[in-house]
Amino acid sequence: GDVGAGEQVFSGNCAACHAGGQNVIMPEKTLEKEALEEYLDGGFNEKSVMKQVTNGKNAMPAFGGRLSDDDIANVAAYVIKTSSAGW
Ligand code: HEM
Repeated sequence: GDVGAGEQVFSGNCAACHAGGQNVIMPEKTLEKEALEEYLDGGFNEKSVMKQVTNGKNAMPAFGGRLSDDDIANVAAYVIKTSSAGW
């Protein structure tokens, strides 16, 4: 995925709830590496982020159909890279 393009997708679609890798709705379910390892279905990898972004989960909306597959792959690459670096 294209991390730079993914950063733009994140700013426009994710930052309202996940600015700085946090979570304004469910505070423990951050995008920090330790939280993703604990809570993200499928674990800490781009494929698992793509799956959750596509399908949504509970109060998180589904982006499949609203974002292209490329946008979803790019934002997943951005999330995993930035989370690895500690936001
Ligand atoms: C959880 C990514 C947009 C609300 C998550 C998680 C990821 C993620 C990776 C798992 C975090 C964890 O389990 O620790 C994204 C991306 C987005 C996006 C990449 C944009 C494409 C949003 C938006 C909202 C939101 C706009 C609020 C309207 C939530 C909530 C959870 C969550 C409530 C917890 C879901 C649960 O486990 O019940 N998000 N998110 N997300 N996100 Fe998002």
